[in-house]
Amino acid sequence: MFSNKPEPTILIIFGATGDLAKKKLLPAIYRLKSLKLLPHVFSIVGMATRRLDDAAYRAYADEAVRKHCRVAVDNGIVGELLNNVWFISSAFDDTDGYGALAARLDEIDRAVGAPCSRLFYLATPPSFFPVIIEKLRASGLSAKTANGLPKIIIEKPFGTDRESACALNELVLKDFDEEQVYRIDHYLGKETVQNILYFRFSNGIYEPIWNRRYIDHVQITAAEVIGVEDRGKYFEEAGTLRDMVQNHILQLLSLVAMEPPINMDADTIRWKKLELLRALRPIEAEDTPELTVRGQYGAGIVNAESVAEYRAEKDVSNDSQAETFVALKVMVDNWRWAGVPFYLRTGKRLKKNLTEIAVHFKQVPISLFTKTILAGPESNVLILKIQPDEGIAFQFNVKLPGSAKHMEKVTMDFSYKNAFKADLPEAYERLILDCMLGDSTLFPHKAGIEASWEFITRILDGWENQQPSKFPNYSAGSWGPRESDALLAKDGKVWRNE
Ligand code: BG6
Repeated sequence: MFSNKPEPTILIIFGATGDLAKKKLLPAIYRLKSLKLLPHVFSIVGMATRRLDDAAYRAYADEAVRKHCRVAVDNGIVGELLNNVWFISSAFDDTDGYGALAARLDEIDRAVGAPCSRLFYLATPPSFFPVIIEKLRASGLSAKTANGLPKIIIEKPFGTDRESACALNELVLKDFDEEQVYRIDHYLGKETVQNILYFRFSNGIYEPIWNRRYIDHVQITAAEVIGVEDRGKYFEEAGTLRDMVQNHILQLLSLVAMEPPINMDADTIRWKKLELLRALRPIEAEDTPELTVRGQYGAGIVNAESVAEYRAEKDVSNDSQAETFVALKVMVDNWRWAGVPFYLRTGKRLKKNLTEIAVHFKQVPISLFTKTILAGPESNVLILKIQPDEGIAFQFNVKLPGSAKHMEKVTMDFSYKNAFKADLPEAYERLILDCMLGDSTLFPHKAGIEASWEFITRILDGWENQQPSKFPNYSAGSWGPRESDALLAKDGKVWRNE
């Protein structure tokens, strides 16, 4: 996947016994090691409140890798990795814990005989981010040392609205320069998301028609079958607009709609995305009923099994107003996209897992077939399939053989799996490696985060001043509330539920 290797590194994971570390980070690190992409000197120091010693944490990490790695685990490789894993049991606001951490990092440097780069990964619930950043400063760990400048990775959600995101940026940028800060949006690590730029800017035929003259509208869908699982507490505060739209969906929108960059440098790409986010027409409070839809799942059938309503999930109140579904109609006020609606939707407990961007082209100017053919042609659709069937499809019309009066919609289909016979790397593998290599292309910039919150916070404010919705308003296993269909129907369009 990559040719260059990072410098000797110590990865310090705050929240080392959390879900993210267990299911994503540790397996991703193992995978990088098995692909020989980790530096030859590499250690992990985990910090969490659980009372574990080094040996117990190694056992924990071993189990996490074996259970959650998507490939068979090699005992030798996992053993080598675990030999360099350490654990500090401490509360995140306990000064002594940071003293112990600093001492352990120095010890590792001495033992390996080289100053290692330090990479702090904040994988805790977001309420701990400020205290960890402050304690890193107080213990001298955010300062430049013989190891160079440390880096810091901050998980999502980065803030809960515009104000808190700005405050968090301000706090972290007191001690770290922008180049040292990596704000994670794991969607950007997905191969198929990265491919949006490759597809758009390495094929001559699409860019000339990628605009208001040829494109009728764009649909972005991120549908999930799962419910909130054991994240009820988080979801009650976050809701889908914060959880999925502010980050993942707006990232997809900016990649598909941004202007062509002059090169692929991190700053150039991030600037182009920012320009796009700033061109989003704000959805003011009075526009929210017209342009936004909120939903919350009721009970229903998913994959032939009955599932409970959101309000019956663990840690969820029985009159919860948290949304588990959002649909938006978004306009982009620039020359390329003026008048082209972007319809965005995402939700939990929907009919199937499907993340895609469907670009619907305009109809032919005059249909020549309506007199002879029963149904007119459907417009062409280009589908960038993000997951689960990663690929690209193009839909067009052909004459049905042997019949004088029918045409049929057919699909040209490119599938990653069939074309490359290779597993796509997990998003976290790519992102952790990029961070070690100092490549911030796939990480949102301070200004990008603030621009996306600017857009989202207006919607949140608008919702706050409206009557509570009549939740639950969609059945688990459906495509969301009826209002979501109505949002498109008003414009004479329908969601692509395929
Ligand atoms: C996370 C959200 O960021 O993304 C989850 O917090 C969501 O609610 C997940 O389920 C979806 O990611 P993926 O990679 O499974 O599409």
